[in-house]
Amino acid sequence: MTSLAQKVLLSCEPENAHDFTINFLKRTQRTPFNLAYRQSVTDKPVTLWGLTFKNPLGLAAGLDKNGECIDAFAAMGFGFIEVGTVTPRPQPGNPKPRLFRIPEKHAIINRMGFNNHGVDYLVEQVKRANYKGVLGINIGKNKDTPEDKALDDYLKCLDKVYQHASYITVNISSPNTPGLRNLQYGEALDTLLAGLKLRQKALSDHHGRYVPIVVKIAPDLSDEEIVSMAQSFCKAEIDGVIATNTTLSRESVSGLEHADEAGGLSGSVLTSLSQSVTEKLIKALDGQMPVIGVGGIDGPASAKERLGTGASLIQVYSSFIYQGPELIKDIVDAL
Ligand SMILES: Cc1cc2nc3c(=O)[nH]c(=O)nc-3n(C[C@H](O)[C@H](O)[C@H](O)COP(=O)(O)O)c2cc1C
Repeated sequence: MTSLAQKVLLSCEPENAHDFTINFLKRTQRTPFNLAYRQSVTDKPVTLWGLTFKNPLGLAAGLDKNGECIDAFAAMGFGFIEVGTVTPRPQPGNPKPRLFRIPEKHAIINRMGFNNHGVDYLVEQVKRANYKGVLGINIGKNKDTPEDKALDDYLKCLDKVYQHASYITVNISSPNTPGLRNLQYGEALDTLLAGLKLRQKALSDHHGRYVPIVVKIAPDLSDEEIVSMAQSFCKAEIDGVIATNTTLSRESVSGLEHADEAGGLSGSVLTSLSQSVTEKLIKALDGQMPVIGVGGIDGPASAKERLGTGASLIQVYSSFIYQGPELIKDIVDAL
């Protein structure tokens, strides 16, 4: 995509720009028009869970919620792609406007609320893709499912995506589904993890393939909470952790337009918080499982720092919105 197209998109209302881009990618990805964004990125393979990642930089969840543009993002050179968050039933998400840019800080605030077409639709899209690389599918719960029935929603999604995913992400850290983050703590977390692991075992036996389950956590955690969550992950023998989702903090953007919008904040303003949570998490996990780092990775320096801290892989979302596909090349070439 040219920098002119990038500039035009960034001058449009954010959700319109998003919908336009997704539509464009969806229609062109398997045609010669994908020349507009196709690029060759050097292979820098990473092996994890017996899977080979083309390079350590992946697309973070939430950009391709319905898995409609997998071949387009692959053509841009991502080392792996994560689609979703998807819920068992389709849902519209929160009322618009619900997506805001803070361009001065290369930041985004969103309160999308898991708008998606439901897990069956996503599976159809995944089946249609030509992509043969590593695909993560990120699962969540419907807004109207009570907190004490959350496990049922995750299991419904797990059953349906299992045979189509390279790994599955359990999202318990979106700030935009009321009560979701409560699943990150204590007994609620242990019950959820135990239920997921039990079903993973059954599905693995049934399909003859073990699909790793990773949990995605928030950056808004105390040191004690990080340690206690790490203990729960190790006890349950979860396969990995993605750190982090968006933050509720507004310290880094205070006074700027849109800073007081409700939702999760992401982008360059999240770099140091995500970096610090990742460091603490890696220490607490003591090598027992890999961590995928995400949050404020905006160029070679922050990418190297996150990998240097011990993250096995990294992902981007917000900086990709501001910088476009060139960001992928910039980061991967520098690693
Ligand atoms: C508009 C938007 C929607 C998002 N939707 C999801 C989602 O559905 N599921 C999820 O796990 N994370 C979601 N995220 C969080 C990102 O995957 C990522 O964890 C976060 O934005 C931090 O990375 P970044 O600073 O590179 O954007 C979303 C982020 C944004 C900006």
